[in-house]
Amino acid sequence: MLAPPALAEGLEARGEWSAYEKGHGQLPPMGWNSWNAFYSDVDEEKVLASAQIIVDSGLASRGYRYINIDDGWWLKRSQPDGRMIIRTATFPSAAGKSGRTSFRPLTDRLHAMGLKAGIYSDIGRNSCGQTFGHGGKNNPAGTLEEREVGLFGHIDQDIALYFDEWGFDFIKVDGCGIRGMGADNPNVASGIYRTFEPLIDFNSIARTDVRAVQALYQHVADALERSNPDGDFVFSICLWGSADVRSWAHDVGNLSRTSEDIGPQWGRMLHNLDSAARRALYAQPGSWNDPDMLFVGTGDFDAHHLVEARSHFSLWAILNAPLIIGYDLREATPDLLAILGNEQIIALNQDAAGNQAVLAFDTDDLQIYVKTLADGGKAVAIFNRTAAPLNATLDAAHLKFVDKAPVQLTDLWSGESLSFSGEQPLALAPHETRVFRASGTRQLPGGLYLSEMPGSVNVAEDGIVHPEPDPSIHRTIISWQGTHGAGEPPRYAGWGGARADRAPYGQHLQIAGRPFSNGIGVLANSRLEVRNKNFRRFSAMVGIDDSSADTAQRVRFELYGDGELVAQTSWIGFGQQAQTLSADVEGRSIVELVSRTADPTERPVPVTWGDAALLQ
Ligand code: GAL
Repeated sequence: MLAPPALAEGLEARGEWSAYEKGHGQLPPMGWNSWNAFYSDVDEEKVLASAQIIVDSGLASRGYRYINIDDGWWLKRSQPDGRMIIRTATFPSAAGKSGRTSFRPLTDRLHAMGLKAGIYSDIGRNSCGQTFGHGGKNNPAGTLEEREVGLFGHIDQDIALYFDEWGFDFIKVDGCGIRGMGADNPNVASGIYRTFEPLIDFNSIARTDVRAVQALYQHVADALERSNPDGDFVFSICLWGSADVRSWAHDVGNLSRTSEDIGPQWGRMLHNLDSAARRALYAQPGSWNDPDMLFVGTGDFDAHHLVEARSHFSLWAILNAPLIIGYDLREATPDLLAILGNEQIIALNQDAAGNQAVLAFDTDDLQIYVKTLADGGKAVAIFNRTAAPLNATLDAAHLKFVDKAPVQLTDLWSGESLSFSGEQPLALAPHETRVFRASGTRQLPGGLYLSEMPGSVNVAEDGIVHPEPDPSIHRTIISWQGTHGAGEPPRYAGWGGARADRAPYGQHLQIAGRPFSNGIGVLANSRLEVRNKNFRRFSAMVGIDDSSADTAQRVRFELYGDGELVAQTSWIGFGQQAQTLSADVEGRSIVELVSRTADPTERPVPVTWGDAALLQ
């Protein structure tokens, strides 16, 4: 056995899968939420009508299960006991004796329909409606204390009430109360609400108390576990990509919002899509990227824009986003229900391997997303982001299939089949996404590149020392701001995170002039955990990536099997040829990939695990 090297913080091999596996998040949750359809103007009739349509239309049998109430349900927090009171004017079945309201009659009804029930809260003292206005509809009432309906100071009490007593199965926890209740909020200044010194500065990670935010959400996770010994819950973190949530949500909850709110506009959909699209390695069964709820049915995705509606739905499905309908289903046309109910597309989303699609081709105009399925087959989405028709070419190589053998494609929207070798031209209408299942001859028979199995890779440490906003995300007009101000800056810390088939800052993988079309790009001082089911060997060609701006550093690559060092390289400098790192990993269920810099005080360089694969 090799002697383990000196340990650096977070790089110590653990021999275990550390990402979140509690709750019911093994597959992306599917369901309905009131917000995009009704905003805070939500009531029991609307919720039950939507639930009934989900059942009657057959959507429930296709997997849509969670019926989630968003902002607007609460009336106040009674004093001095702190018990939450439901707005019975809008949720009449909640009226109980002596003012002790309960959602139990509603959750019982939903459960009796074969559905699950979701509730919503905020991690601060106040709600988003109270923080940012939202027209004031159904804002909490009463004294200053009574209006403090958020979880802050009441986490254990509220989670016990919502899950033990009221019987909910899902909670979305927003973060407005820890973001916007500083002394400069006009409602705070005028004494309507108490000051909450913001823990989140949306525009500055350095002014955000990341650890304090994480600790609050961890407290909720702990309470959820206590209140749900059967593990039947989903914990949805809604921090809109702030507070460096990308780096820790996979330790704390099942879903994590990657961006600000989606809107029913094409540009906004692109923004939310982009916030998750390059983060395939940050999603795995148990904890998923959440680019926000669907807007299929409304605005640019309504019954007059079925091409756009199909694109939005296909992209969310292939990215393993939660499929949460945000539409007043009472208005649904058969065409829209057919989109939401497309079993083939849903099957991609619910595929057991849990691999978020990886970008095989990426430009501002056209993208090709490829997802490796549990049966070893592929799904591919070719997406025309532009408003003009576009001719694309799909290469066998995009699918990691060999050029010479035939590739079979089945169009999941039209049902049409086609076959090609080498390359296939495809004509795309404006905004169209063509989605296929594909089979062919794999370039790597009997093995899987790690970039084909992102759902089995957990980025335990990604080497980022100073989180930076991501400049690659489409910036659009924010509907609630219009063109006031200076427009949208890059947002969402995570730039430089680990990437499948790319270097951390988006360049192609390359070591000393040698390109790699397969591999993992990540900063040094990182540790990746990889689940190994039945493979015997790990193999990669490793070195400092040519995208590094720093040519002075040296890096060592280490490979662990179930916590034991099984192979390592010597110290490698910039421009040095890729070294082979391979080892027998038979019977080792967790393989860990560690790279470390010789000088841990330096800002780590990008490194490449070229052709990194698990092999028979
Ligand atoms: C936002 C959240 C939305 C919705 C809204 C309710 O912060 O991102 O999805 O929940 O609050 O006020």
